Amino acid sequence: MKTLVTYLSQTGNTKKIAEAIYEEVAGEKDIKDIKDASNFEGYDLVFVGFPVMQFNIPEKISNFVKANVAGKNIAFFMTHAVPEGSEAIQSWTGSCKDIAEAGNYLGSFECQGELAQHVIDMLLKADDPQMKAFGEMGPSTKGQPDESRVQKAKEFAKEIQGKLQ
Ligand SMILES: Cc1cc2nc3c(=O)[nH]c(=O)nc-3n(C[C@H](O)[C@H](O)[C@H](O)COP(=O)(O)O)c2cc1C
Repeated sequence: MKTLVTYLSQTGNTKKIAEAIYEEVAGEKDIKDIKDASNFEGYDLVFVGFPVMQFNIPEKISNFVKANVAGKNIAFFMTHAVPEGSEAIQSWTGSCKDIAEAGNYLGSFECQGELAQHVIDMLLKADDPQMKAFGEMGPSTKGQPDESRVQKAKEFAKEIQGKLQ
């Protein structure tokens, strides 16, 4: 059983979750920034992680998954600024299922990630009122993902691997 954990992360939140999943996964494994991952060949299980951006999965991730997912076991993890339990999250999870349609979708993990100060500053200056509203969310995201989220991500990794045994 060989597992790939690959992720996109601009300010480190998704990377932190990627590292927790990687640590927990048993067997042969690799962890790669998405820019260093060329395809899913040779892996029995792939975890793909991303920050939600502009209410969506970043295009780089969805294109990469669609191009490589056929016949593969795949699970996702995402970080976002909106509070956990927000309605929007269901649509992002739904989009994960959609882009993995040609493969074997095993599940998605999500948790809040801190908005970096330079991102808050940028969002507060944006013309789009929804982006501005994200900037205002900044303080409520402080410290995320915290240790309890990291633990949950590890449990998720175990649960996903368990589905293949
Ligand atoms: C340009 C931009 C757009 C974003 N759009 C959203 C969004 O639509 N919904 C959301 O919940 N968070 C949004 N975020 C917040 C990030 O998803 C969040 O901070 C994430 O944890 C960043 O992960 P990273 O540190 O791995 O890059 C956005 C962040 C940026 C920089």
